[in-house]
Amino acid sequence: MRMRKQIAAANWKMNLSFQQGEKLLDDILTAKIALADHQEVIFAVPYPYLLMTRSEVAEEKNYYTAAQNCYHKKSGAYTGEVSAEMLHSIGVPYCVIGHSERREYFNESNAVLADKLNLCLENFITPIFCCGEPLSIREKGTQNEFVAIQLKESLYHLPAEKIKDIVIAYEPIWAIGTGKTATTEQAQEMHAYLRSALAAQYGKDIAAQISILYGGSVKANNAKELFSCPDVDGGLVGGASLVAADFIEIIKALK
Ligand code: PGA
Repeated sequence: MRMRKQIAAANWKMNLSFQQGEKLLDDILTAKIALADHQEVIFAVPYPYLLMTRSEVAEEKNYYTAAQNCYHKKSGAYTGEVSAEMLHSIGVPYCVIGHSERREYFNESNAVLADKLNLCLENFITPIFCCGEPLSIREKGTQNEFVAIQLKESLYHLPAEKIKDIVIAYEPIWAIGTGKTATTEQAQEMHAYLRSALAAQYGKDIAAQISILYGGSVKANNAKELFSCPDVDGGLVGGASLVAADFIEIIKALK
């Protein structure tokens, strides 16, 4: 059985000028952190920076670029939108799907996200599918049921051979950009739950191959502890991915 990947994914969101982005990548790549075969670094950058990022990482083993979103229709009269096919045509291998900011500010439903996942997979793009509960749900203690519905409605139509190629990011909304990280116990508990839910649906072997990243205030000083959890396979990192020295430490924290 293939070893699942350990991934440090940067999510720049709507930050940095083109020049700042280029400098950040240069600063990170000149650190020359050699990645093992099972480790990857992914930069999810704004659309206009994708080609630049792709060429920056082209010579680096296991460094990749990702889009932060794509549209849920194949093509057509959708002014301002970007399709999965377009991303594939410029060699983008990953795409973040269903980030909580997109769910909240752009009303992306589980059904729309299922369409996006399908389009990514049809176009050979690996989706990084985000799930996670808001604070009100965590306070009620129903977070497992909440994320189970997100998985069921967006993922479970996929056959086993497709699901094993997607990456999942668990991002509790109360931890995103708040400086409030889930404890290692909370992260491990949820990741183990997600893996058991995937195992119930697709079998243990498939579930064991799926990388589940943690996101929400991952920092240079907590990455190692979070990533050391047996079911946490790296992180999706916002704020700390914008500072070269911090993201370098996060990459080095990968198992
Ligand atoms: P944060 O963002 O690291 O700034 O909390 C994480 C994310 O939203 O992916």
